Amino acid sequence: MSRKYTVYIRGALPVESTRSPDDVGPIQEYDRRVAAGRLREDEHQRGIIQSLQHLRDELAHYRSQPVIHPTLESLKPTKSLFGWFGSKTKASVIEDIPNHLPRGLYLYGDVGSGKTMLMDLFYDTLPSAVKSKTRIHFLNFMQDVHKRLHRMKMEHGNDIDAVPFVAADIAEQANVLCFDEFQCTDVADAMILRRLLESLMSHGVVLVTTSNRHPDELYKNGIQRESFIPAINLLKARLHVINLDSPTDYRKIPRPPSGVYHTPLDSHAASHVEKWLRFLGDPENPEPHPETQKVWGREIHVPRVSGRCAWFTFQELIGRATGAADYIELMRSYDAFIVSDIPGMTFRERDLARRFITFIDAVYESHAKLVLTTAVPLTQLFISPDELHHSLRKGGTSGGSENDESVSHAMQHMMEDMDVNIEKLEESDMFSGDEERFAFVRALSRLSEMSSKEWVERGMGLESKGGKKEKDEWTKVRSRQMEDSM
Ligand SMILES: Nc1ncnc2c1ncn2[C@@H]1O[C@H](COP(=O)(O)OP(=O)(O)OP(=O)(O)O)[C@@H](O)[C@H]1O
Ligand SMILES: [Mg+2]
Repeated sequence: MSRKYTVYIRGALPVESTRSPDDVGPIQEYDRRVAAGRLREDEHQRGIIQSLQHLRDELAHYRSQPVIHPTLESLKPTKSLFGWFGSKTKASVIEDIPNHLPRGLYLYGDVGSGKTMLMDLFYDTLPSAVKSKTRIHFLNFMQDVHKRLHRMKMEHGNDIDAVPFVAADIAEQANVLCFDEFQCTDVADAMILRRLLESLMSHGVVLVTTSNRHPDELYKNGIQRESFIPAINLLKARLHVINLDSPTDYRKIPRPPSGVYHTPLDSHAASHVEKWLRFLGDPENPEPHPETQKVWGREIHVPRVSGRCAWFTFQELIGRATGAADYIELMRSYDAFIVSDIPGMTFRERDLARRFITFIDAVYESHAKLVLTTAVPLTQLFISPDELHHSLRKGGTSGGSENDESVSHAMQHMMEDMDVNIEKLEESDMFSGDEERFAFVRALSRLSEMSSKEWVERGMGLESKGGKKEKDEWTKVRSRQMEDSM
């Protein structure tokens, strides 16, 4: 029987189309990334996106004047006692800032709130009317500026006022200049920043920058801070200073914690489950809700669901008379499973162990993800250390104390070296029939594979792995897989 399951298709995803760079502005691009699951909708970021879109629309009609370099002559020192710093005669070297210069943006806010991402999105969607653009980390930019200043001085003498000239050079290369992490920590930067920024603006350069601080907080307690105040005033007057007041630190949204399996059932077990539920479920609504799935007229109660992740306690999932058909149905409805509070299953709980192994097989075969909290290490899940010990003794190849030692050694490294331990178990005569031993050993080996980073991160659409495309492809693979399993 072959049925089509659309259940793995997550919402309507936008179709890529051929488009010119002028068709897509920051708003559309943000929408696209949200729809593709690459970004989460965030109302604070929305506000900034509006400002970015506004600036982009202005830039679509903005033409800056051709850059005219100041003459070298005008940059030579006058005989004034004051040199060029603050001197009236030299102020004229920098032209006035044109009235029609679009106001740039100064985005500041807490770490991880998305400033850099938003600026990059703006940079990527600049209209074709912007003939040249540069996006650079501010520290690199300043390093480059100092190099250029140095070169000018080498060529034209130490007392030349190189800043306006260098600014003109830079303006020729970038109509729009995007700085990441604007800051001022250095007196050498502090002394030139106002004139540098003013010169750039006078040549029609539009500045967009991110920073962790409000302009008023820049260069706090710096040497000769008073000389830096005009730079602050310039930033405040010529850029829209916007606080990205997002309460979310996106870097703190949990990336996969170190491992999917947690032992024992201690106080960390609960937070293990909670972290994974956020990562694998719907991070916006991690608070789980119950759902009901139907299989052949029967109902399966799923006690806790977030997004496409279902969480059962062992008792809820395996303690009842469930079987392969139920598990397959669950695999269709969810991409990830958390099973918490798994006890060790000794010989007497053979039924539970068998059922749980059937569940593990279903998860593995459908390529779903599995998170567990267990009372004992995985290799002891289906067999107690005593039982293993006993069995290895009875059927082991070596005997006596040497074997005792190897057993305790094996136990010690159970979790670290699963493969070796699986081999050991395979050799034991714990399981009467070959089939049972095989199922048991295979379950452990599958658990080991399902704990790999590759398994866990596959199909999550993580940007490092290819984002939406990877997720889409994975969705197809999984639904095909489920059809085959019918
Ligand atoms: N709306 C969102 N949805 C999902 N991920 C996001 C969202 N906004 C930002 N991120 C991601 O969060 C991480 C941090 O964002 P970003 O680097 O832009 O923050 P930042 O404000 O520049 O931080 P910092 O102040 O430390 O430079 C990045 O990996 C980014 O892609
Ligand atoms: Mg940043």
